[in-house]
Amino acid sequence: SNSDYDLSQPLNPSTAVGLRQGLTSYGDAHFSLFLRKVFIKALGYSEEALSRPIIGIVNTYSSFNPCHANIPQLLEAVKRGVHLAGGLAVDFPTISLHESFASPTSMYLRNLMSMDTEEMIRAQPVDSVVLIGGCDKTTPAQLMGGISANKPILHLVTGPMMPGSHKGVRIGACTDCRSNWAAYRAGQMDIEEIAAVNEELAPSAGTCGVMGTASTMACLLVALGLMPLAGASAAAVSSARLRIAEETGGNAVRAAGEERLRPQKLLSRDSFLNAITVLQAIGGSTNAVVHLMAIINRHPGLDGEPITLETIDEMGRHTPLLVDLKPSGEGYMTDFHASGGMAALLVQLRPLLKLNAMTISGRTLGEEIDLAPKLGPEVGGPNSVISLFDRPLYPSSALVILRGNLAPGGAIIKASASKDRGLLHHRGQAVVFSSAADLAARIDSPDLAVTADSVLILQNIGPIGHPGMPEAGLIPIPRKLAAQGVTDMLRISDGRMSGTAGGTVVLHVSPEAAVVESPLGAVRDGDWVVLDVERRLLKVEVWEEELARRTAERRMVEVDDAARKGPRKVRGYRGLYVKHVNQAERGADFDFLRADGEL
Ligand code: FES
Ligand code: MG
Repeated sequence: SNSDYDLSQPLNPSTAVGLRQGLTSYGDAHFSLFLRKVFIKALGYSEEALSRPIIGIVNTYSSFNPCHANIPQLLEAVKRGVHLAGGLAVDFPTISLHESFASPTSMYLRNLMSMDTEEMIRAQPVDSVVLIGGCDKTTPAQLMGGISANKPILHLVTGPMMPGSHKGVRIGACTDCRSNWAAYRAGQMDIEEIAAVNEELAPSAGTCGVMGTASTMACLLVALGLMPLAGASAAAVSSARLRIAEETGGNAVRAAGEERLRPQKLLSRDSFLNAITVLQAIGGSTNAVVHLMAIINRHPGLDGEPITLETIDEMGRHTPLLVDLKPSGEGYMTDFHASGGMAALLVQLRPLLKLNAMTISGRTLGEEIDLAPKLGPEVGGPNSVISLFDRPLYPSSALVILRGNLAPGGAIIKASASKDRGLLHHRGQAVVFSSAADLAARIDSPDLAVTADSVLILQNIGPIGHPGMPEAGLIPIPRKLAAQGVTDMLRISDGRMSGTAGGTVVLHVSPEAAVVESPLGAVRDGDWVVLDVERRLLKVEVWEEELARRTAERRMVEVDDAARKGPRKVRGYRGLYVKHVNQAERGADFDFLRADGEL
């Protein structure tokens, strides 16, 4: 209105907060507002529209991203919700990452996306932000950036895809991608059949339909209070998903400019403990542990008591696995939704939850649980994939943190997804692959000296070693053993594994092999390796002196290399990445993005 330009008056408080307080300064505050209005009016907005809270909507649509293919419809529904609630919806793009089309890995680009998200939220005149996304790295990147930018954020995931069908059996990305490929590799399926399976594994828009990383992160966002209870599981192509989008738009207007709903205020230690409880109870993706550590490290203060990998392990010891979805169990996300989804699960988990944790609706998590309609089938009954708290699928510790001389900085195993539970306590001799390329070259060789009791070790797929820490940790069973019917072996690496995969697979070993002091980097063929999940132990039976000798040898090689080749120069984002990425237990975030840095 005209009073916005009256130099004798303070800025008109009914003008959108973001417009009044935008960071771009062109001189006096009135002139800055005057200029911002010049340009936003070029988009056709009226004074009336600009007197409303401005709700930013982050649009991560891309034609390379099938997990986000429904974003145009969601965007329309969020805008409807914003406008019905009296706000002004303004969408803007950030980069879009799909798991399969983000070479070398989507994880390599997660931190870039979080920086894009953070800086665009900070830069633009928004009073609150709806973050639309869904594929694995998107939600963590958005939450990391959102916490750092610290304007009220609301998540809206795109939602899971529908399952497909092959020979009358339901199949879905991507647990069944792996099992079917393994069957083809083992000669149990011919080329026509595997091609038919390829057509059905991802039959609709949306995120992978099992409890992989995308679904896990969606459940954690609910536990953190950043999404409505039904928001984690409604199918991407459902009308329920669109109604959740509309609801999110309205919630964003109510959250606009609310100090207490800024993520650094809203998210407390209790919020993160709730997220960890849910992570264990759903048998969530191992990747979520890396993301959670990165997210937590973006938060400037958690009441003095840090949350570490040990917290996750400790909480796992009294958290039962309650959700029967692949890869730990049998069902798909559509089954979870039909079973009542997060609302039904949180009722079961009540005794373990911090019910006073605040949510973006302005109500506590406990109040949200009480308000939710209880319409699903009987929990624990034949039509539900959710178990009763005291009749769990797996008693505790779906995700286990390991330590020992092979992983002084920690490692993780998803014990609930082990196929051969005998391997959770195992001693065997190492068969070592020094890189992903070495593995590819030798794993199927008939001459490979390996038995079913061997321990397959893959080095140099950690955050620095193979920038982006690829999901190559699910080392395939050597073909000659697979042909004999071996379906699981103890496998160890410093890399990650898809959240949709299963097996007895130790991941995220820290420090990674590319770091010269890394014991994993010093392991050799024939070393005896011990995994004891019960005792949380991962060790190599090599004398300390011998390990020290090997490390000294590795250091000499490194020094020699540097002397011959001169200092390594790596340009661009990759240079930034290898210089600043931290280890898995700190979330593989950039050191300069942690909350303890200055802005
Ligand atoms: Fe996007 Fe699985 S590929 S969620
Ligand atoms: Mg994945």
